[in-house]
Parts: sequence; structure tokens; C-alpha cells
Amino acid sequence: MARHLITSAIPYINGIKHLGNLVGSQLPADVFARYQRGRGNEVLFLCATDEHGTPAELAAAKAGKPVADYCAEMHDIQAGIAEGFRLSFDHFGRSSSAQNHALTQQFAGVLADQGLIREVSETQMYSPTDGRYLPDRYIEGTCPNCGFDSARGDQCDNCTKQLDPVDLINPHSTVSGATDLEVRETKHLHLRQSEMKAELEAWIDSKHDWPILTTSIAKKWLNDGDGLQDRGITRDLDWGIPVRKGEEPWPGMEGKVFYVWFDAPIEYIACAQEWVDAGKGDDWARWWRTDKGAEDVTYTQFMGKDNVPFHTLSFPATILGSKEPWKLVDYIKSFNYLNYEGGQFSTSRGRGVFMDQALSILPSDYWRWWLLSHAPESSDSEFTWENFQASVNKDLADVLGNFVSRVTKFCRSKFGEAIPEGGSYGPEEEALIADISARLQRYTANMDAIEIRKSAQELRGIWAAGNEYLQSAAPWAAYKEDPDRAAAIIRLSLNLIALYAKISEPFIPDACATLRDALGQTGDQPWPDDAGAALSALAPGASFTVPENLFRKITDEERDSWQTQFSGKRD
Ligand code: 2FM
Ligand code: ZN
Repeated sequence: MARHLITSAIPYINGIKHLGNLVGSQLPADVFARYQRGRGNEVLFLCATDEHGTPAELAAAKAGKPVADYCAEMHDIQAGIAEGFRLSFDHFGRSSSAQNHALTQQFAGVLADQGLIREVSETQMYSPTDGRYLPDRYIEGTCPNCGFDSARGDQCDNCTKQLDPVDLINPHSTVSGATDLEVRETKHLHLRQSEMKAELEAWIDSKHDWPILTTSIAKKWLNDGDGLQDRGITRDLDWGIPVRKGEEPWPGMEGKVFYVWFDAPIEYIACAQEWVDAGKGDDWARWWRTDKGAEDVTYTQFMGKDNVPFHTLSFPATILGSKEPWKLVDYIKSFNYLNYEGGQFSTSRGRGVFMDQALSILPSDYWRWWLLSHAPESSDSEFTWENFQASVNKDLADVLGNFVSRVTKFCRSKFGEAIPEGGSYGPEEEALIADISARLQRYTANMDAIEIRKSAQELRGIWAAGNEYLQSAAPWAAYKEDPDRAAAIIRLSLNLIALYAKISEPFIPDACATLRDALGQTGDQPWPDDAGAALSALAPGASFTVPENLFRKITDEERDSWQTQFSGKRD
């Protein structure tokens, strides 16, 4: 049994995520986790909320709540929505957990002992009006690189350049709007990533099978300008993990916290500790320490492309720099962006469909199917209501749903609600079994390679092959002359439904549960490695029930009204 550690990028706590965020990390990670479990492998699938940094503080201030309360509430909301989308995390943790506090401080201490942390006297923007320093999103101004007038202190959203607040032109405080800002000297910790450039580069160069999207971003950062830069890992903020050297105070760093991007990936490890402390598992080190059993774990991370530098360089610098036997990531699956109706999804402008809204209009399988079958893998992709309607109506309702409904209803009317016993498989059935077998091999190869769109395409092909078979074998016609022949066709078709229920589960788990229930299947079914055996698995005579309609069609009126409803600001 192989062992898979799987993490999704941990979403920021500030607000409910849109469908573009979902398809860029959590959803494909869930597909891979479900697939590996379905193959009988051991999986630990972790995600959490990313609760520190300026986004959390600013959102809490806007909501008029203490930041700890805001985070606790938003965590529960995000956890509920994740459940709604059937994201099968083994644990959904919090980067503000006690475990992450301790582990982050421990890593900082170890890195300092390894000589990889420098204390640097820095210039920071200070606002006398606000009585505080203005790091990251507390400050905005004009981007010195592209001229965009709302660039944030840490990054320009327009040209994506990483910025320093002191570089902004005409800066102002996002708290008070104050422009009378001063440059002040203050001390911060820097992680000496530049020392580790050669080691990081050799490690990335050894990953020949990684997606180009992942390696090209990593290489760009390694070699941009003067090469990999040292990075500030502390901030002048109240909310966050206090700077300590392990359990000791860090003289001169009083009142400062670690930068959110230092502690967030460490939460991947702390989350496994939370999972154990919550009583859901008994050994986190077996997944994370190569001296404690993690050497045979395959670790896969999922994320949007904007997160790649932090996962290919910064977090590995933390892990490698510690010289401790932590598990390093084996494969980084990254995604481009999903656009919305000719523009971008926008959290700040409320443009597009947000996760809670999506679930309020249709069940999660509809969204999962569309998003995954259009995952922005090789390039950005675009959500349109028209395309959504077309995919759902065709793939889910016409192809899969219709097959299930025709087969089960025909069986009920002619043979009753039990797997029919007569007849035997002939050449048409043998041909179908050979076809399904070849398609299944391609499907599993694509799933192993985490090629989400290609996998969805193969799955759709497997569903369609069943429909074509049913159409050409025509049991309704055969029944009149030769009921046994019809019985064999229907028996194979019911077996196909069982096979669909197993292999489609990573994409549309609720529909698959309905199918399993209808077939009276309890417990885990084996993966159909042998299509011939799988398609004769249902015992003749065993009873089943006709399931509820699996998928309904989206009408033109619904499509048009949703298009209008989601075009602008969310309330
Ligand atoms: O981009 C984001 O949403 C970040 N909160 C992702 C953090 S991933 C990790 F490193 F923890
Ligand atoms: Zn810019």
C-alpha cells in the first residue's frame, strides 16, 4: 500500500473564496486524495485556514471584530463550505493553532542556530496618524514598476512584482488614508535564502517530471536580477506568531511577529499534529519525519501559480536549512487562473461566483464536474454560464444520468428490481469490455499523473461508451424476441453503473454514493483493475433500487438569471 501525503494551499481567512480559488488548489487536491484512497492507498490529506498577516487584521477591522474572534468565526464558515463541496480533508486546521506557534518558533530557532538568519536594520514606513508601522497591505500607492495606482506594499496586483512599502510612489495608509508617512529604522529578521541558492537549484533541477508551470516560476525567481534574495520573515504587527528563538525570547524582537508566509507552510506540518491532537490519527511524524517512517511517503502539494515561489523556494529553504530530517515535497502541482465571463474573478469587487453562493443554487457535484473538467492546467481557463449549462446538461444529465435512468427503469419494468440472471455476454459485450479496459488504463495513467482535465475527458469517454453500447445493443428491441439476450445486456449495464460509481467518485462523490446505495453496495469496493472481472461482479439475483434522477438540466432561464445575479457586487 503506497502512502500519500497531500496538501492544498491553505486559503486566507479573510472571506469566502471564489470558484477560481477552489479549482486552483483545494478541489484538485481532493480529487487526487479520493483517487488514491479509491486505489486502496493510505492518504493523509491536509488543509487549513491561513490566519495571520495583514489580510486577517484588515478584514477583522472592517468587520469590527477582534481578530481572534473573526478568525474563529471565519474558520468555521470556511470549514462548513468545504464540507459542502465534499472536500475530504483528514483535518482542516488553523495556522493560528498552538501547534503552529510552537513549530514556527522552533524552526526559527533552528535556522538561527544554522546561521541562516540575519538581524537587519531596515527602513519601514511609519504612520504617526495611525501610531504604527504600515507593512504589506496596510499601505498602498503607485507601483514603481508599472504605474498601477493601487499597488500594495508587498506586491503589485497588476504586474505581480514583489514590492517593498518604501518603493511605492505617493503612498498612503489603508487604515486612515494618511499620507504624512515617515521612513523609520527598525530591526527585522531575514532568512538567508541567497546562501541556499545552489542547493535549491540542484533540488529543483532534479525534478524532471514537475509541471513546466512549476519549474519555470521557480527558475525565474532563482535567477531574476541578482538571483534569490534574502527575505524578511518578521513584521511589525500585533496578530501573528510572536518572534521567539524556539522557546527562548529573541532580544530586540519584542512586539514583532513572524511574516505570514513564514508560518503558513509550516502549518502543513502543524496541521498533522493538530490531526493527532484532535484524536483523528496517532502518529504525525510517520508522515513528516524521514527518520520516523516518512521516507516512503509521496508528498504532493496543490496550489495556484502565485503560490509557487513560496513552495519551490521559501518553504524548502526552511526545511533544507534546518538540516533536520523533514519530508520535502515530491511533486508540486500548480494551476493557472480561472477567469469569469470575459474578465477576472474579483474578491474585492465581488465579481464571479463565491463558494457559498454556488452551493446555494446547485449541489456540489455540478460545480465539481465543471470546474475539474475545465481546470486551468496548461493555460488560464474561463467560466461562462453558457459553457457551464452545456457541460452539465450534456455530460452529467444526458450521458451519465440518462444511462443510469434508462438501464435501471428498463430493468425494473421487465425483470424487476434485481440483477437479471438470464443469457450470457457475447461479442458486443466482449468488445465493450475491451474498450472500457483500454479507457480505464488511460484514465488511471492520467490520474496518476494528476492530469485533471485529461482524466475528466477519459471519464466522460467511459460514460459515453456505455451509452453507445446501450443504444446499439438495444435491449428494448432484443427483449421482444429474446428476453435472455436483453437480460445479459442489462446485467452488463448495471455492472457498468457499479464501475462508474467507483471510478467517478473523485469527481462527483455524491452521485456515486447515490449509485452505490441504489446497488446496495456497502463498504469500500475494490478498484476495477480488471475490467472484465469488474463488469461481471454484481451477483445475478441481487436486488437494487431505481435511484432518484441523478442530475437535472439547467434551463435557459436559470442560466440567464444567474448570469445577471453574479455580474457585480455581492451584498
Ligand atoms: O494564496 C493564499 O491563499 C495563501 N493563503 C496560501 C498559503 S499556502 C501555504 F503556504 F500555506
Ligand atoms: Zn505594478
